[in-house]
Amino acid sequence: MNITYNERNRVFKLDTAHTSYCIGIVDEENFVGHIYYGRKLADDDLAYLMRTQEPPFVPSKNNRDRTSFWDAFPTEYTGNDIGDYREGALTVRTEGGHTAVCLSYLSHRIYRGKEKLEGLPATFGNEEECMTLELTLEDKLLGLQVLLSYSIFADNDAVARSVRIINNGEGSIYLTKALSACIDMDNEDYEMITLHGSWARERAVQTRTIMKGKQGVSSTRGESSHQEHPFMAWKKRSTTEESGDIYAMNFVYSGNFLAQIEENQFGSIRAMMGIHPYNFCWKLEPGDSFQAPEVICVYSSEGIGGMSRCFHDLYRGHLIRGEYRDKKRPILINNWEATYFDFDTDKLLSIARQASALGIEMLVMDDGWFGCRNDDNTSLGDWKVNENKLKGGLKHLVDEVNKLGMKFGIWFEPEMISPDSDLYRAHPDWAIAVPGRTGSLARNQYVLDLTRKEVRDHVYEMVASVLRSANIEYVKWDMNRQLSDLGSYGLPADRQGELYHRQVLAVYELQERLTSEFPHLLLENCSGGGARFDAGMLYYSPQIWCSDDTDAIERLSIQSGTAMVYPLSVMGAHVSDCPNHAIGRVTPFKTRGYVALAGTFGYELDVTKIPQEDRDMIPEQIAMYHKYNDLIRRGDYYRIANYADNGLYDCYVVAAKDKSEALVTYVQVLNRPNYHSRRIHIPGLDPDRTYVIENADEWPEIRQTEYKGDTLHYAGINIPPLWGDFQGRLMHLTSK
Ligand code: GLA
Repeated sequence: MNITYNERNRVFKLDTAHTSYCIGIVDEENFVGHIYYGRKLADDDLAYLMRTQEPPFVPSKNNRDRTSFWDAFPTEYTGNDIGDYREGALTVRTEGGHTAVCLSYLSHRIYRGKEKLEGLPATFGNEEECMTLELTLEDKLLGLQVLLSYSIFADNDAVARSVRIINNGEGSIYLTKALSACIDMDNEDYEMITLHGSWARERAVQTRTIMKGKQGVSSTRGESSHQEHPFMAWKKRSTTEESGDIYAMNFVYSGNFLAQIEENQFGSIRAMMGIHPYNFCWKLEPGDSFQAPEVICVYSSEGIGGMSRCFHDLYRGHLIRGEYRDKKRPILINNWEATYFDFDTDKLLSIARQASALGIEMLVMDDGWFGCRNDDNTSLGDWKVNENKLKGGLKHLVDEVNKLGMKFGIWFEPEMISPDSDLYRAHPDWAIAVPGRTGSLARNQYVLDLTRKEVRDHVYEMVASVLRSANIEYVKWDMNRQLSDLGSYGLPADRQGELYHRQVLAVYELQERLTSEFPHLLLENCSGGGARFDAGMLYYSPQIWCSDDTDAIERLSIQSGTAMVYPLSVMGAHVSDCPNHAIGRVTPFKTRGYVALAGTFGYELDVTKIPQEDRDMIPEQIAMYHKYNDLIRRGDYYRIANYADNGLYDCYVVAAKDKSEALVTYVQVLNRPNYHSRRIHIPGLDPDRTYVIENADEWPEIRQTEYKGDTLHYAGINIPPLWGDFQGRLMHLTSK
């Protein structure tokens, strides 16, 4: 890891273990351009790559065609309205109504470590672990300074970028777009990878050719969303899972976003990411600054898998906080799919009794324990225990659960308010709304206006007082609707355009408060399943509920798409009842266990009601979790085959960092008649070491029990057709 500045050529170079990122300053006007991002290079004189010499298009030599310069220059962070007709990263409106921004280099600072981003989640590292380049750009006329930060890590190849904008001028400036990162480069036959979905089918992988014009994904829903994800990668067409060039950006943010690639007339692309400019207008008074959230940029020459593993390591080591980050999580049983709203103390205790006898370690009481909530039409905001259901109160229930040797967890949806609630009756103006308009309901609820301090304080106290009242060790923080009808009774007219972002900042502030007051709490974020499964939330909670679709076969593609960016250690995954409540499929209990193992692991069923033979399997599954979870949480993840691509089977391996062991999960989704065995290649092993198939009795078809790592990878193993659909197997390899 190193950051250098070559004064002669005016080139900055950021070197990680395997990558280089170069920025140059050009012309007398000190414009800042992007030079190179890719494999690590020894040379630091790369200024020749910037096409300013052919012909001399720099304004000092050819001001007659200044727009031609701007429209082709690979700008490091673009201004607006000066002749670059591609999408800009920063747009403003001045008091005079003007929108142009022209940025040039002012100064820089290179330092060890990484500063916090105020009020925002971000990666972190100390002086040994990180280095940062801070480039200050300015628009003299506007008095606007733009600070571009680039942090690199000693043990990871990612570059963490963010932007801070300071108004040093004399008048107010409105930011109407302030993206966090942008990279210009030549299009070398790139394809774009993005993640798409809907409720119960989050993060399906899509690949498309990058073509002229703009293409991308976004959210204007006030959350990162089920539908599109704040991630994009671009790779060479020839890049595979295991080899070839790939670039990616992921947003450490949980609200509206734009992720876009634009190919211009000369075949160069501009990739950019940041807060979506939709309804965004941030007022900067003189002296004010705006901090745009962080974007993680990754380059890997080791294919899609190399990119994924880079994100996984970065997030496990430099984003997730708290004591549970590196710890096995308690195996929980959640009563949502078991009882929905129909439960009371007795029912929960009978589930807990059975669960604890089987080795389950925590009972989570989901939605329906508060106010008059017997369905999803009421009571959000009234976080008072419903003692008709919980006879003897919450503490009694928690104590009884604790007596069984189990921990206790609880569900909240703190950002919401039901029109049918005491809170709404007392404070109708606490909901986000446009005065005089009946707002659109979703799941019969409104969103609380958390930009108001009194609302935040009230919500926090309600939640915290419940947590203080009993030994509650886990919270599932849910968020079940998207934002609409944007209006805050607390903001003046010229700041209504700040509402979307302020709301996200408020959620971050609340979760920061919660995890500070309750440092031992295990927090799991959730949003109607996985609508806010993003790097922003991971700063506050070490796990996120992946999807409301708990069907094991559907989960194969949801989890594999999620693992494109996020480590298995953060994916909430449970064994649930069959026929599955989302799609009605019946999958063997054993397979359901294998699939949930690739996550935080738990149960979401009424354990008193499932068939005895399934129940009998639970202690075995729990033993498996205890045996493999350290490996799954910390290891390197390699996708071998995707059910979403081939329609037939799914396979992945998690290999220990020291290559001492690996766990292969294979799920045959469909059996077909008269096929021979399937060849599977197992990456991630040490080619020279001998591996023993530790559970060889489950693989009677494989004659030998020992193979070298290179044999398992390059020659592979044959997996026989398994009898029936939805059958799974694990293979545990340990090195001798
Ligand atoms: C969301 C969550 C579910 C459950 C329900 C409760 O849909 O994703 O897991 O908690 O809310 O209403």
